[in-house]
Amino acid sequence: MVGRFSRMVVAMTIRMPRWFVGWVSRRYVAGSKLDDAVKVMHRLSKEGACFTIDVLGEEISSMEEATFFLEEYKRVVTAIIDNDFDSNLSIKPTAFGLLLDREKGMENIENLVRMAHGHDMFVRLDMEDHRVTDDTIQVMLEMHEKGLTNVGVVLQGRLFRTLDDIRNITQKLGPNADYRICKGIYLEPSEISHTDRQPIIDATNQCIDAMLDAGSYVGIASHDHPVINHTLAALEKRSMGPNSVDPRENAGPERRQKGPGYEFQMLLGVRGPLRRKLRAKGHRTRVYIPYGEKWYEYSIRRLKENPTIGTQVAKAFLMPWTNRP
Ligand code: FDA
Repeated sequence: MVGRFSRMVVAMTIRMPRWFVGWVSRRYVAGSKLDDAVKVMHRLSKEGACFTIDVLGEEISSMEEATFFLEEYKRVVTAIIDNDFDSNLSIKPTAFGLLLDREKGMENIENLVRMAHGHDMFVRLDMEDHRVTDDTIQVMLEMHEKGLTNVGVVLQGRLFRTLDDIRNITQKLGPNADYRICKGIYLEPSEISHTDRQPIIDATNQCIDAMLDAGSYVGIASHDHPVINHTLAALEKRSMGPNSVDPRENAGPERRQKGPGYEFQMLLGVRGPLRRKLRAKGHRTRVYIPYGEKWYEYSIRRLKENPTIGTQVAKAFLMPWTNRP
């Protein structure tokens, strides 16, 4: 029933004129220009948030487009430094050409990661669908092999493979591993992934525990109470918390701009009150800020990829008090 309603909302939204989609996505996308993202960061800095910036893009079809992303992200690094923001970068390896020309794609990624490294800035590799999970993890491992330890990957709780990935990455990187863990936005086939709500939550929570026990840095990317409450309990169990030094014996090196071994991450425009509540209790909170000329294509693609977002869109409109930015 909910699925059908959600699909209906999505089907209606993607048929609406561009301005309407723009109006819907306004709260989730900073704007089309870097300046728009800078303005949002100035505003949210006052709330004590830190950031990760995502330059929006579709799957690219030429290496010229990859060059565009490289240059745009370099501008982002400069803007972060100029404004002294507490921010890192979120990139999609495919946008740098990884699937078109692996060698050149890796070169592009390394180019950006080196620039960020020079400024003690962290780069997060967003995770796309299961076709690129191995490649994305491999990019991170190769960067670490080159001494570029300012790179971490996103893992998706819904995938059956994720606990194994955590074990393998821990074996290779030890406590230098730095994750974002989320449920996973892509609706993956049931052969490789959980597809129901509760098993996805349970699997995500198991991954959070495994990452914490491995001594890794863990960014918990969820707006969902069962995941956040589980995390708070898991932290307490391990004597981890705000303003304390990470007590885990096997914890990684203390990294500049990071909290005591973990942080909460949320999307721009989603559940601001919950984020502020966590912040008020002293937890480190990071806001994911997408911007870019391709905001329209991005919004439509996300809606099509995961029609369950339709429920959230409708809820955000009909019950805005549950979901203030
Ligand atoms: P859930 O979907 O149950 O949401 C809980 C509540 O939050 C909803 O009821 C609704 O009120 C609100 N909400 C959540 N998402 C919303 C939205 N988009 N619009 C409006 N309201 C919303 N996935 C991935 O596959 N690869 C990645 O790299 C990332 N990166 C990433 C970064 C960050 C910072 C976040 C927060 C999330 C991601 N994700 C992601 C997306 C993630 O996998 C997941 O799909 C969403 O976070 C939704 O799952 P929740 O755990 O928030 O629960």
